[in-house]
Amino acid sequence: MKILITGGSGYIGSHTCLELITAGHEVVVVDNLCNSVTEVLRRVEMLSGCRLPFYKVDVRDKVGLTRVFESHLIDGVIHFAGLKAVGESVNNPIKYYENNVLGALALLEVMQIFGCKTFVFSSSATVYGDPKIVPIKEDFPVSATNPYGRSKLIIEELLQDIYVSDKNWNIAILRYFNPIGAHKSGLIGEDPNGKPNNLVPYISQVASGKLERLSIFGGDYDTFDGTGVRDYLHVVDLAIAHVKALQVLEKKQQIFTVNLGTGVGYSVLEIVKEFEKASGEIVPYKIVERRLGDVSTCYTDPGYAAEKLGWKAKFKLDEMCEDAWRWQAMNPNGYFNK
Ligand code: NAD
Ligand code: WQD
Repeated sequence: MKILITGGSGYIGSHTCLELITAGHEVVVVDNLCNSVTEVLRRVEMLSGCRLPFYKVDVRDKVGLTRVFESHLIDGVIHFAGLKAVGESVNNPIKYYENNVLGALALLEVMQIFGCKTFVFSSSATVYGDPKIVPIKEDFPVSATNPYGRSKLIIEELLQDIYVSDKNWNIAILRYFNPIGAHKSGLIGEDPNGKPNNLVPYISQVASGKLERLSIFGGDYDTFDGTGVRDYLHVVDLAIAHVKALQVLEKKQQIFTVNLGTGVGYSVLEIVKEFEKASGEIVPYKIVERRLGDVSTCYTDPGYAAEKLGWKAKFKLDEMCEDAWRWQAMNPNGYFNK
């Protein structure tokens, strides 16, 4: 299939481009480069040996998107493009609704015009809010605790409405848990702007000496060691799940929602220890106040992903940390010109 990847130069998008090419698909990338650089695509080309057609287009720009669809016969779209910083979304909700919701809407409108009705959407475990019980199944109640999460929920609902109106659409909603790690080559990985918000990029920069110390947000959660528990999955496993989702969509028209995680929860302290082992470096930390909006424990029931996609995460935590560390050690300044 010829797949348009929006946000294809981002963290998850770049890894997915590589896995799609490996699986024999053709890939076209659209990104406005608000959180990535074209160097990423050069590296994906190096790793895959394939040229990647790239368009610097904002997904809100219907004229720009139309040109892309006129230039390529696109069979399906994987929509990664979006803003993802939870804290920023609380301070600037309009920016998040404008970018994420209007971006998805413009893209879907252009797809409809071109009769391209296969769509894979990057949603998030954040749509489960503060889950009452774990492991989390796909039919658990959803609720947003911040504008970022609400932008994901609005798009999920929009997709359900589109499918109700026209059963020729073919839609996969993928709710990611906590993607970490990097490609084994160490050439592509996560390159946050400024101080990282997420745990593993932060730990990586502490281990490499760029940051002094990790603040652990809360030591009094109702978990076995008091620190927050999450379902961390390797970004390459996550990328492969997108290939599987496309395979399922190819078989018949449908809409489905799947959680993507390992099904195993690790605490912040366990991640710190595993990262120290992987890097051979000490990660100094201090337990501080809880972070506003954080939940205690969040991990998936991986059963439906296995049944629906025939997908199961295969990388264990030690490899996730080793690969995250290799990326950090080989690219101390990320993609350097961001
Ligand atoms: P990322 O920021 O690395 O990648 C997103 C890409 O989209 C960037 O390259 C950015 O430049 C681009 N982009 C943003 N707005 C755009 C627009 N209007 N037009 C065109 N391009 C635009 O983020 P990521 O971690 O790769 O996340 C990809 C998707 O997965 C996002 O939708 C995110 O919300 C979702 N997600 C991420 C996580 C995570 O922890 N990383 C978890 C759950 C869901
Ligand atoms: C993990 C754990 C923190 C940083 C976020 C989004 C979610 C999804 C994935 C996009 C928590 C603790 C973290 C630090 C810490 N993204 N922590 N010190 O919060 O589970 O999920 O990213 O969809 O929507 O909310 O991920 O990596 O920020 O935190 O102690 O400096 O690490 O409290 O327990 P989170 P995270």
